Amino acid sequence: MAVLVTGGAGYIGSHVVRLLAQRGDDVVVVDDLSNGIATRVDGHPIEQIDLADAGAEDSLVDVLRRYDVSSVIHFAAKKQVGESVERPIWYYRQNVGGLANLLAALERVGVERLVFSSSAAVYGMPDVELVTEDTDCRPINPYGQTKLIGEWMIDNARAATGLRAVKLRYFNVAGAGWPELADTAVMNLVPIVLDRVASGQPPVVFGDDYPTPDGTCIRDYVHVTDLAEAHIAALDYLADDQPQESVFNVGTGTGSSVTEVIDAISRGLGREIIPEMGSRRAGDPPRLVADVSRIAAQLVWKAQHGLDDIVGSAIAARR
Ligand SMILES: NC(=O)c1ccc[n+]([C@@H]2O[C@H](COP(=O)([O-])OP(=O)(O)OC[C@H]3O[C@@H](n4cnc5c(N)ncnc54)[C@H](O)[C@@H]3O)[C@@H](O)[C@H]2O)c1
Repeated sequence: MAVLVTGGAGYIGSHVVRLLAQRGDDVVVVDDLSNGIATRVDGHPIEQIDLADAGAEDSLVDVLRRYDVSSVIHFAAKKQVGESVERPIWYYRQNVGGLANLLAALERVGVERLVFSSSAAVYGMPDVELVTEDTDCRPINPYGQTKLIGEWMIDNARAATGLRAVKLRYFNVAGAGWPELADTAVMNLVPIVLDRVASGQPPVVFGDDYPTPDGTCIRDYVHVTDLAEAHIAALDYLADDQPQESVFNVGTGTGSSVTEVIDAISRGLGREIIPEMGSRRAGDPPRLVADVSRIAAQLVWKAQHGLDDIVGSAIAARR
């Protein structure tokens, strides 16, 4: 019996592969290596398949049977909001089409446990202090829309087949559990600031006139190792007879402003960082912080790391 991790050679997936291996689970990775690094999952079988490819359903059926797969964690997707605005149809093909092939293969083989990478991007711009799983989902870009459609597809498959599934809506993921598994993309605040500082430039703050205490946007930063642990908890939850809920926020429940993150990086590096103030970007909600009571109660999961741990691990990984 093995766990299939799609996108396992990626940033978050490789952390989960490592935790699964540590507790003795057999793992097989499916990844097209479009953004993955094969050495992150050294020691585990890796099948190079593009999930969105026309023949992917049959290839997946073969993998599920050959490795005697009993559950799947599905990370494989494209994840850049800006790119999704420029290439929306390709995003639908990749993220929605890839999931359709996976769900069809699971049904054919009778694999019934699935954990899905969703995102806080499904909420769009909610005007609430804490976002609960019942907050309206109004994604404002194609990336977020592909994640919400993915959730609907899974719900429909759950209703029609024996599928049991958990959808995890990640808030802002950062940090590294092991330096070699760190995110290589420079798309989120922590790596962007580290990159600017390393190249001798001031980081730019997009808007300091938001209705927040220091005027900069507030987000919920979750350490990638904590997030990876949430997937293990979700897999175990699906083994229960009667899983009660299927969608969970994954965050810390605490918000940090852009200024607070830059201050934490400044502390971590032991040097002063003076940012440049820029104007607001379209589509940035002032505040996006998770209510994490459901995941705490049902999956008995709670983030263990705070902002300084996240920043410290990202700095250590860059070194
Ligand atoms: N990183 C974040 O902040 C964040 C936040 C919310 C949700 N997510 C979601 O979590 C998942 C993993 O994100 P990540 O940060 O590890 O990204 P990543 O790009 O590092 O990992 C994704 C992996 O999937 C693979 N992949 C992409 N398209 C594929 C395809 N068509 N077929 C097979 N493999 C494919 C890539 O090669 C890569 O190894 C994604 O679904 C992403 O949307 C990430």
